[in-house]
Amino acid sequence: MKLTQLQKEMLEGKHGYATQKSMEILNALGEIYGAKEMVPVTSVQVAGVSYANLGEPGLDWLAQMAEDGRVRVLTTLNPAGMDMENWKVLGIDPEFARNQERVVDAFAKMGIITTCTCTPYLVGNLPHFGEHIAWAESSAVCFANSVIGAKTNREGGPSALAAALTGYTPLYGYHLEKNRQAHVAFTVTPLVKGSAQFGALGKAIGDILESKTEWAIPYITGISTADTDELKAFCASIATYGGTALFHMAGITPDKTKIPPETITITEKHLTKAEEELNEEGAVIDFVSIGCPHASLREIRYIAELVDGKQVKKETWITTARPTKQVADQMGYTQTIEAAGIKFACDTCCVVAPIKGRFTGLCTDSAKGCYYGRGRNNFQTKHCSLEECIEEALTE
Ligand code: F3S
Repeated sequence: MKLTQLQKEMLEGKHGYATQKSMEILNALGEIYGAKEMVPVTSVQVAGVSYANLGEPGLDWLAQMAEDGRVRVLTTLNPAGMDMENWKVLGIDPEFARNQERVVDAFAKMGIITTCTCTPYLVGNLPHFGEHIAWAESSAVCFANSVIGAKTNREGGPSALAAALTGYTPLYGYHLEKNRQAHVAFTVTPLVKGSAQFGALGKAIGDILESKTEWAIPYITGISTADTDELKAFCASIATYGGTALFHMAGITPDKTKIPPETITITEKHLTKAEEELNEEGAVIDFVSIGCPHASLREIRYIAELVDGKQVKKETWITTARPTKQVADQMGYTQTIEAAGIKFACDTCCVVAPIKGRFTGLCTDSAKGCYYGRGRNNFQTKHCSLEECIEEALTE
């Protein structure tokens, strides 16, 4: 791979230990994937923040990088294992909390904005069309590539951090126009509305994509409108079930693609099957969680309307970015929601928080939440609309 003078100096250690280690990671990645050069990035999203995933070895590595590593571009963090301020109310073990704080402190020392959210694009880390970025977090990667039209590979925690500390990423994969063309077309015939239905659609298409390795990028027609919340749900779901990092949705997303010759029609049957698989028959629900990916201000505002003057009967969380909640505080939505007995869990989510064993069944409007709720936390799952989630929370 051809390196510039600055990149060579980074690799030789002339710009410090963390920069050298970072350039080593990026150089190795570039060699593996056949990149000819590096490209500057303007935005980074780092994943691998929960202490539950990192453990002491991960934390040791971060501490070493934080000795002299400082980010060169706008960088935000994925959710942590707990609400960094309100962890006691959410029942987090004090020892876990101490360790999680050490992790976030190491990131903060490197100059990373410790927002801890999987929706950085809702809180100011918003690249524009065509920008090269280096994001980890599958749902955000899919949103950045598909909805915004920025260019990113699906980074891992270390490669994203390396991009942040050097300002570069190897030029391969989704950074190249030739790799952003659709492989298969889908025509969606039913009307799809609301985040839960978009999540089911993401699963239906994702399951089909997953069955054929040569179909990485879908071109989707038949969707007449989709708002940001619906697209965020769709991105999370198709990334989870199909491993999709980029899709094209006719009339909705900005990138251009050649139209693939093969078309698959998505009917009501596909959506019903997806819903059936997301819902476990007879699931015993004792936990309701909304905000996977993290809830937007519009969703929080709507929940406040739905629960005004009412009381939930089950443990209910809204997971969101702290800056989003701060606006909700100012607007009085938080007070209405908390008066109804719902808890806010900022900086974290029902998947990365260490809550395995605390609940039997999860009710959520997120198809991704069902996948990980089941796989990681052994929860039985119920998937339904946001309104039905609130109804479930209000019922004994
Ligand atoms: Fe975000 Fe956690 Fe869902 S990281 S996409 S809320 S699983």
